[in-house]
Amino acid sequence: MSLPAGPASPSPFQLMRWLGRPTEYLEATRGRFGDAFTMRIGVFPPLVLLSDPQAIQQLFSAESGTFDAGASNQALKPTLGSNSLLLLDGERHQQQRKLLMPPFHGERMRSYGELIRQLTSQVIAGLQPGSPFLIRSTMQRISLSVILQAVFGLEGGARLRQLRRILSNMLDTMSAPLLMGLLLLLPDDLGPWSPRGQLNRSLEQIDALLYAEIRERRQRPDPAANDILSLLLAARDERGEPMSDVELRDELMTLLVAGHETTATSLVWALYWIHYLPEVYQRLRAELDGLGTDFDPEAVARLPYLNAVCSETLRIYPVALITSPRVVRKPVRILGHEYTTGERLTAAIYLTHHRSDIYPESDRFRPERFLERTFSPYEYLPFGGGNRRCIGMAFALYEMKLVLATFLSQLEMHLVHPRPLLPVRRGVTLAPPDGLYLMPGTRRVCGRVPASV
Ligand code: HEM
Repeated sequence: MSLPAGPASPSPFQLMRWLGRPTEYLEATRGRFGDAFTMRIGVFPPLVLLSDPQAIQQLFSAESGTFDAGASNQALKPTLGSNSLLLLDGERHQQQRKLLMPPFHGERMRSYGELIRQLTSQVIAGLQPGSPFLIRSTMQRISLSVILQAVFGLEGGARLRQLRRILSNMLDTMSAPLLMGLLLLLPDDLGPWSPRGQLNRSLEQIDALLYAEIRERRQRPDPAANDILSLLLAARDERGEPMSDVELRDELMTLLVAGHETTATSLVWALYWIHYLPEVYQRLRAELDGLGTDFDPEAVARLPYLNAVCSETLRIYPVALITSPRVVRKPVRILGHEYTTGERLTAAIYLTHHRSDIYPESDRFRPERFLERTFSPYEYLPFGGGNRRCIGMAFALYEMKLVLATFLSQLEMHLVHPRPLLPVRRGVTLAPPDGLYLMPGTRRVCGRVPASV
C-alpha cells in the first residue's frame, strides 16, 4: 500500500518550510491531507505524521520489535555518539533505559529538589530591581547548572565552568535554523569555518573534559554519591562488565543535550504566559501565597494550578514538534493502513495538541482545561510515548515547578514588552523568539510583598 498522501511540492521547498515556519507548514498540511500525511523533506526518507489519538495509541503500544527509533536518529551520532540512548534499539536500548531511569524518578529525583531551589535562589539574588534580564539566558543558566550537578555531582571548579561555557556555546550555535539547514546540506567537516568543522572543534573540547572527569571518578569512587555518573560507573551488565569510557561519554552527552535546552525553553514559555496573562498570574500567586519562600519542594510539586500551568505550557507550544521517528521493522496496520518494513512514522505532538475536538480554542492558553478533565497519553504527549517516552519527564516537570515557584515567591516581575508571540524554531525544538526580557521589581519577603510597597 502506498504511503498516505502529502504535499507534492519539491522536497527542498518542504524542508525550507519545515525549518522556517514549522507550525504553519504542519497546520496547512493537516488542513489539506487530514490526520495522517506524508512529509518529504530534504535528503530524508518520507515521514508519515500521525495526529489521531487512536493511531498514536497503536504506534506507542505496538508489540516489541515492531518499530525501531534509534535507527532514525543517526543524524545525532556525530554529537551524541553511537552508544547514546537516543540511537540504540532493541535489547540494548531497554537495558540502558533501565539503568538511566532511576535517578530521574522517586526518591533520587526528589533529592535534587533542594538543589534546584538553591540554584534558582542564587540566580535571583544576582538580579537587580529595575534592571531587565533576558529570560532565555537566565533559564539556560539554571537548567544547565541543574543538569550538570545532577549528572556529575559537580558543585564548582574549573572543569564545570569550562563545560558550562563550551556546552552552552555549542547548543546555542546548533539552535540557529540557518546552521541546521547548512548542516543538513553540508554534513562533512570541511575545516574550521564549515558548520560541521565548528561543531567538531567544540565536541573535541567537551570530550576532553568528559573523559578527564570519567578517569578521575574511576580513580576515586564515592559509594555515597547520588549523581548519575557515579551510578553509571557502579553499574554492571548481565555479564558483570562495567560501561566503557566511550559508552559513559555518549550517555552523559545525551543527558546534557536532551535535558538542558528542552527544560530551559519550557521555563521561558511558562514565565512568558504567567506574566503575559494577568488572570493566570493572579491565580498562581493565590496558590503559591500559602507556601511562603521557604517552601517544601514536595508541597510545590503537588500544587494543582501550578501543574496545570506547566501542562498547558507544554501543550500549546510543545518543545518537540514530533516524536523520534519510528522505523517499521515488522509490517503493521495503523488505522487500517498497512505499513511495510523500512517506512517511517511519527506522532505529530504539535498537531495532536491542537485538535479542536480535544482542545477547544486550542490557540488559547487556558490551564483550567487540565483541571476540568484528564487527557490520555495519546491526546497529550509533550514527552512522546511508548518505549521511547522521555526518561527526563518527571525530572523536567519537577524542575519547572520548583524554578517557577522560587521565582514567583521571591520576586515581583513584569514583561518588558508584553505582546502576543508566535513560536520559532530553535534547532530541533520549538521556542519563543529571542529577546524576551523580564523586569525585576520588589523582592518578596516570606511570599509577601514588603509592607512598604
Ligand atoms: C521539558 C523538558 C523536556 C521535553 C519537552 C522532552 C521531550 C522529549 C521527547 C518528545 C522525546 C522523544 C520521545 C519519543 O520519541 O517518544 C524525549 C526523549 C528523551 N529525553 Fe526528553 N524532554 C525533556 C527533558 C528531558 C530531560 C531533563 C532529560 C534528561 C536529563 C531528557 C532525556 C531524554 C532522553 C535520554 C530521551 C530518549 C529516550 C529514548 O529514546 O528511549 N529529556 N524527550
